[in-house]
Amino acid sequence: MNKKGFGAWCEHHIRRTVKMMSCMRQTLVILIVLTFVVGCLAGLGIAKKRTADKVAEATAEVRKEERDKLQTLEKELFDLKEQQNQTVVETPWNLTLVNYNHPMEEGFVPELKELKRGYEVDARIAEAAEKMLADAKDAGMKIMICSAYRSVERQEQVFSESMKERVKDGMSYFDAYSETMKNVAKPGTSEHALGLALDLISNQHSELDERQENTREAKWLAENCHKYGFILRYPPEKTAITGIIYEPWHYRYVGVEHATEIMRLGVTLEEYLQNYYQPEGGQ
Ligand code: DAL
Ligand code: ZN
Repeated sequence: MNKKGFGAWCEHHIRRTVKMMSCMRQTLVILIVLTFVVGCLAGLGIAKKRTADKVAEATAEVRKEERDKLQTLEKELFDLKEQQNQTVVETPWNLTLVNYNHPMEEGFVPELKELKRGYEVDARIAEAAEKMLADAKDAGMKIMICSAYRSVERQEQVFSESMKERVKDGMSYFDAYSETMKNVAKPGTSEHALGLALDLISNQHSELDERQENTREAKWLAENCHKYGFILRYPPEKTAITGIIYEPWHYRYVGVEHATEIMRLGVTLEEYLQNYYQPEGGQ
């Protein structure tokens, strides 16, 4: 090989080596980039899994808490039921007890009569209700009826609307249910479906809340209702017995004699039937 030939051979090999090194560098860069991408994806996956684990853990805790609450509530209801079952007595129509543990007779619809103001009640209490409202008016009271007879289907609607409201406000389904139960009787256990209840409010305060009791109208009703056979069915401090919050607007017909006695004793219908009422012909 002459000098020229050797020079060309060297140049050729140097070019090849440079090309090879360039290829290797590119491959190395690609490998580094790939490793980085795979690493990032794996990292993301782990972070995602950790978040999912945390969410699952929190959900399990909430579920456990709700299960515990439900168990406590069921135990309380069971005790209440036991207590009340001991005392189911035969009652005339005007003393029919409906509450969480005493649903009304399935399919029962009272004979209805429309009041002058356009609400329906059990025909047997219409006269007493009209007289109470007329006397209240003569005494200067401005009372409005906001509910009277409600069918079981209507009660279902009221119940589910109340639940939806609460869930929309951020309550869990469980809390929405137990809160609603204290305000709206479970369908089939409302006195409104018996046609024996009236929700009466002052025209000065249209909200169904505890402040209703401060109105002149609520005070007049609380003092005089018994004269017409009505009782304040869900008094304050009696929620543990009735299962319902204090409702200064909900009046229930029981007849003058029982209403007067219930008011004198300061008891609920549950307590009256359990501890004081003597069925006709009873001991
Ligand atoms: N608000 C009463 C309890 C009812 O729904 O009958
Ligand atoms: Zn009511």
